[in-house]
Amino acid sequence: MSTTSIEQLFVHNREWAAQVERDRPGFFTGLMAQQKPKYMWIGCSDSRVPANQISGLEPGEVFVHRNVANVVVPSDLNCLSTIQYSVDHLKVEHLMVVGHYGCGGVLAALEGLRLGLVDNWTRHVRDIRDKHIKLLDSISPQYRHDALCELNAIEQVVNVAQSTVMQDAWARGQKVTLHGWCYSLKNGLITNLEMTVPGVGGLEEVHAAAVEKVASRKRD
Ligand code: CO
Repeated sequence: MSTTSIEQLFVHNREWAAQVERDRPGFFTGLMAQQKPKYMWIGCSDSRVPANQISGLEPGEVFVHRNVANVVVPSDLNCLSTIQYSVDHLKVEHLMVVGHYGCGGVLAALEGLRLGLVDNWTRHVRDIRDKHIKLLDSISPQYRHDALCELNAIEQVVNVAQSTVMQDAWARGQKVTLHGWCYSLKNGLITNLEMTVPGVGGLEEVHAAAVEKVASRKRD
């Protein structure tokens, strides 16, 4: 377990900044001039799933939104504004919703655990559990949590695809591809859930195929 103190965070920060500037002089002043990330990442707030580190992306390369259980709901102005800014102004080319196996928010939704206010948020994941209850029941109990983590990421991609922001972007011919992924805390690897949506059309077929793969995915 880390015993990092607040003072140490500042020490680390100064060391990191100095190291970056030594390795690549002008790195920070270059980033100050503009940010042109190609990617937007919607992930879980979980401290074990840091977007930049696990995908090897540097400052300036990925625009990030995180919340408990990587949920995208049309009434969430925070998440939608982040998507809108990244698509309309930063012109990101890929937007990935990245769930993770072992997600506590997803487990709470799966098992109906009472954790407090956050239960109202994970209610969105519970709706996904209810929607896919037959599929989940057909999966061995020890893999149901993993399966719901995958289904949640897949359904959140649908929510992004159906947002007015994406519908408008695709209607004007902008190239933005959506992806659904799931990250493993166990080995640090990302699974591509093959929920890849390149534009308007075909969403239902891609969704059905991705859900089908959740049902048949081999897990150890
Ligand atoms: Co999580």
